[in-house]
Amino acid sequence: MTRKPLTVAVVGATGVVGRTMIQVLGERHFPAGELRLLASGRSAGSAVSLDGRTHEIGEATADAFDGVDIALFSAGTEVSAALAPLAVARGATVIDNSNAWRMDPAVPLIVSQVNPDDAAFHEGIIANPNCSTMQLAPVLMALRDGVGIERVVVDTYQSVSGTGAEAIAELEGQIRAHVGGSPKEARVYPHPIAFNALPEIDVFLENGYTREEWKVVTESRKILHLPELRLSCTAVRVPVFVSHSEAVHVETTEPITVERARELFAAVPGVVVQDDPAGHVYPLATQAAGRDEVFVGRIRRDPSVERGLAFWVVSDNLRKGAATNAVEIAEVIAERGWVARASVRAASGDAGRSGGAV
Ligand SMILES: NC(=O)c1ccc[n+]([C@@H]2O[C@H](COP(=O)([O-])OP(=O)(O)OC[C@H]3O[C@@H](n4cnc5c(N)ncnc54)[C@H](OP(=O)(O)O)[C@@H]3O)[C@@H](O)[C@H]2O)c1
Repeated sequence: MTRKPLTVAVVGATGVVGRTMIQVLGERHFPAGELRLLASGRSAGSAVSLDGRTHEIGEATADAFDGVDIALFSAGTEVSAALAPLAVARGATVIDNSNAWRMDPAVPLIVSQVNPDDAAFHEGIIANPNCSTMQLAPVLMALRDGVGIERVVVDTYQSVSGTGAEAIAELEGQIRAHVGGSPKEARVYPHPIAFNALPEIDVFLENGYTREEWKVVTESRKILHLPELRLSCTAVRVPVFVSHSEAVHVETTEPITVERARELFAAVPGVVVQDDPAGHVYPLATQAAGRDEVFVGRIRRDPSVERGLAFWVVSDNLRKGAATNAVEIAEVIAERGWVARASVRAASGDAGRSGGAV
């Protein structure tokens, strides 16, 4: 870890992901000298309570980033697009959880155990991938490195916490309405999510995919350094509170046995194989919730293609899918002396300098 305690800001600190970020920073004893919690003007002056401690919320304005070393952003794409460059201009390095910067070629897009070295070239903004991409990348990396990947088909079963606090309240409200025999009101989603499965996450694009599905395609290619990877995705919202599940079908370059796939997956840091169908053991959303690992099971040969493998991947979308990976990126840049922008480190002649205020 870096020698000097860092000043860390969390933008979106009242949100589902922001609150989890604060919790994860504490759990992992991140060396933050000062923690600055920011949200919209609506929340400024209020407080969030976590682990028995009360934190006051400030308004996320450009001035709020004076003296900040690392700013973890989780307040939506518009806020990140507008505010992240202002934070960088004030000297902060932004780790951004939104969709604003992920596909910018100048911005590293990092899954901590897949491509941490890419963080070295950052110029002030590092992007945290979409939650569905996040849990897929470590298992695809294992296959890429072990046997090569030709094609991937992934279908997601995504929890409502992926949409935020209002969606969690909407599912709860619709379950209560159902039990009470009243109509289910849908405001966040276009249809009731309770007792349903909605094949619409984010907006529809001209190619017929949703933006969520297309994020999985483009972000996976960038993270895995496989720009030509053939990948297709159907993303579905399901009435689960926390954790995304994914059914994945991969056509590999070299042949692979189920036993070899288990070994490759188990060797990835942060990946846990749970695969004993006879004992009804496989990854479950409820069991993954609150955990930082990516769980994989139901590993089997896919006989529909010559070298096919099918499996099921589950992870907590708020933790590894968002907050934990953002904090892990902060740990990587703090440990490796990459808090300062690459050009600033190069100009100072010290590629390893952490820089404190940069
Ligand atoms: N949930 C997930 O699984 C997940 C995973 C990956 C990425 N993300 C991304 O993370 C971001 C936040 O998600 P969430 O689920 O935490 O949403 P959320 O629960 O709705 O929280 C939104 C947060 O953004 C803040 N905010 C809104 N407008 C703001 C403004 N103008 N200036 C400053 N702060 C503002 C809110 O503050 P107020 O309380 O003051 O309104 C709140 O803290 C989104 O970009 C989302 O796409 C979420």
